[in-house]
Amino acid sequence: MSGTPSTPASPPDGGDAAASKTFRTPIGTHDLAPPESGRWVALLGAFIAAADRAGFGYLQTPIFEDIGVFARIGEGTDVVGKEMYEFFDRSDRHLALRPECTASVCRAFAQHRPTTPWKVWYQGPFFRYEAPQAGRYRQFHQIGAETLGTDDPDADVEIIALAAEFFDAIGLQRVPLLVNSMGDADTRAAYGEALSSYLQRRAGDVDPQDRDKIERHPLRILDSKRPATAAVAEEAPRITDYLTAATAAHFERVREGLDALGISHEVEHKLVRGLDYYTRTTFEFRAASLDAAQDTICGGGRYNGLVEALGGPPTPGIGFALGIERLLLACDAEGVFDVPAQRAEVWVIDTAGGAAARDLTHELRSVGIRADRAFDDRSMRAQMRAADRSGAEIALIVGTDEIDAGTVTVRPLRRPDGGDAGISQQTVPRGEVLGALRRIFDELNAEGGT
Ligand code: HAM
Repeated sequence: MSGTPSTPASPPDGGDAAASKTFRTPIGTHDLAPPESGRWVALLGAFIAAADRAGFGYLQTPIFEDIGVFARIGEGTDVVGKEMYEFFDRSDRHLALRPECTASVCRAFAQHRPTTPWKVWYQGPFFRYEAPQAGRYRQFHQIGAETLGTDDPDADVEIIALAAEFFDAIGLQRVPLLVNSMGDADTRAAYGEALSSYLQRRAGDVDPQDRDKIERHPLRILDSKRPATAAVAEEAPRITDYLTAATAAHFERVREGLDALGISHEVEHKLVRGLDYYTRTTFEFRAASLDAAQDTICGGGRYNGLVEALGGPPTPGIGFALGIERLLLACDAEGVFDVPAQRAEVWVIDTAGGAAARDLTHELRSVGIRADRAFDDRSMRAQMRAADRSGAEIALIVGTDEIDAGTVTVRPLRRPDGGDAGISQQTVPRGEVLGALRRIFDELNAEGGT
């Protein structure tokens, strides 16, 4: 992460090694600090605005749950079988850090039985014990949205449109949308047979590291990134040829809706997703700018049996989750969503002990001005340097002369165009500082606007 000070690896000479041991973030995790954190906040803001416009409310579920909640994602999936952070608490409860949120959302639905459609969004940290690399972390962060209680294909379109609108809002363009349908139980049974017998025939061509999946989890062969396996998958029977009439019509209506909304998409018959709960629609937005191994920035689909599997009433659902770290990598690769670092508007310089800076910054902030100051009674020079670095437009200077006279010196620090609009340093009575600032800001705005 940029901007993070590095931690010394060994204690300073003569130090007590045990007492001064330093620590680093665990493998696969990272700190989020300014200025990068400013982008996250802006990103969340853009998503909140889009979700709010579409009628989704915020849901927050615990970061750990009974392990049984996540078992429903599919015992045979990597997420559950190999990557879950599970533990027993002090009362011997078997718990897991959440690897994703859809199961938690369905658990919450089954627990609270809200009225439907239940449209919620969420964000936060998720945990998978994966091999860390760029775009793949052990603690990563998702934003997601789910609609529970309707099987209407228009709800699928609404969910996909929400993700698309969000990408638009942050300026991300090269994110093609792939869609598929997993059909229903009948589709899965018929397709499962066809796929298994095809894979048995082609077993010799499948990458040796994937061969065990032919028996254990044939669908997983379809999303393998290993070239030999991918070639076999390319020629595999297509699930869309096994859709029942009802699921084919559902898929058709989803595609029609996407077309109507101008959301371009392609059908990708190998798009089966890495979690077992999907039925009917599945989709992914993949970043064309990222390496193929980590290019899925948003994945989702329908999971019409999951609420019931978690003890609730039969309740269809559709949703997506997008990985924030990966999304920001895609933004970087496209050179978009470059949120400027937060700047002060006014910097208060106090060489008379600091009390005036304390009171003035407080007063300015209370009327909505971004104001800041240096601490520790630094020299005038040091405080001026800090003011310059802050990017502030104006410095308010208080020295002993100003204290004695009951005044404040107002000094413009920069002009938007480097020109001179006649805004010059002035000394004003302490009580007139806000008025003077307002006048200067108005002039600067007028100057910036021309
Ligand atoms: P998922 O495909 O497992 O789906 O994850 C969604 C997104 O989270 C991925 O496309 C990726 O951007 C991000 N992600 C996953 N694992 C990592 C990781 N180790 N490091 C960084 N980013 C990662 C789900 O989680 C489903 N709950 C999506 C869903 C919602 N389906 C229906 N509703």
